[in-house]
Amino acid sequence: MKNDQFLTLAFESSCDETSVAVVADGRKVLSNIISSQIKVHQVFGGVVPEIASRHHLENVNSVLEQALAEADVTLDDIDLIGVTKGPGLIGALLIGLATAKAVSYTTGKPISGVHHLHGHISANYLQHPELEPPFLALVISGGHTSIIDVKGYNEFEILGQTRDDAAGEAFDKVARVLGLGYPGGPLIDKASKNGDPNAIEFKRVFLEKDSLDFSFSGIKTGVLNYLSNQKNRGIQVNAADVAAGFQQAVMEVIVSKVMLAAKQTGRKKIALAGGVAANSQLRSMMEEACKKRGIELFRPAPILCTDNAAMIGCAAYYRYKEGFRDDLHMDAYANLNLETCEP
Ligand code: KG4
Ligand code: ZN
Repeated sequence: MKNDQFLTLAFESSCDETSVAVVADGRKVLSNIISSQIKVHQVFGGVVPEIASRHHLENVNSVLEQALAEADVTLDDIDLIGVTKGPGLIGALLIGLATAKAVSYTTGKPISGVHHLHGHISANYLQHPELEPPFLALVISGGHTSIIDVKGYNEFEILGQTRDDAAGEAFDKVARVLGLGYPGGPLIDKASKNGDPNAIEFKRVFLEKDSLDFSFSGIKTGVLNYLSNQKNRGIQVNAADVAAGFQQAVMEVIVSKVMLAAKQTGRKKIALAGGVAANSQLRSMMEEACKKRGIELFRPAPILCTDNAAMIGCAAYYRYKEGFRDDLHMDAYANLNLETCEP
């Protein structure tokens, strides 16, 4: 405690960002240090797990020191330690978990293990102090695409999810074949601004009627086929048009599924979460669709959309506050059930 505030020190290391944050009373970010490894992995065109683990190990202590210094607190002031326990790259997760456990052991402060996607959803609580469950969450990241009914701070029901690729994964793959670089999402977002979304029509996959599931592997193959056809015919491809057509097709499906979920559940609040939630077209299409239906839209600032420890601190606070307890025997998991927070 400091100044009567309950302080959570949180760690996130599930992929290629080493992040440590201090969050007051679950909602106020005192510091949120993010050390990104993007440059290290860029040359490989994707995250190399072993290299990610090594960099987490090299960075985590200095990121921790910076987080405490920026929040102007010491370990003595901390009340709770939060950490991502999964899902993610197992070696990467273990660095954050081992560090969090070491701090918990030496200080005697309680530790709380967080599901990475509960963290992404919680980023909305940091951005919007008035937001409380229930609401619908669209979680779209490099590894996940799900529509979730957030019934309580720790009560989640998956209404639909991708049956193959995650949206971010499809963005990254399409960007790679277009030669745009890595990570692909922001680059396709940018390239699309100069393209015509109607120049090339990629097939939208809606699956069964009333299904809230997604499938993005077809559209990814559609782009690959289009590119090889054009190449075989010796026709120069307009990368901006391909990017814009691809993004339009993906976002149309996502927005229509989320609106269907709102209709099916009657929820009047929707929150966006995960790296792809930073996409500018998704934001504007969701705004328009929600406005039309009288639905309130919540979305974190872009920096809170991508992996960061503040969102983990918020989720850890609400787990602890609602009586969930972990101990130093806690493990990290590459796969973790979102509804039960168990492997
Ligand atoms: O949530 P996140 O940082 O990491 C995971 O938990 O996966 O999401 C990373 C994903 C990457 O696939 C990246 O390309 C995508 O988010 N992304 C975007 C944008 N910014 C990041 N996708 C589309 N448009 C963006 N502006
Ligand atoms: Zn993430």
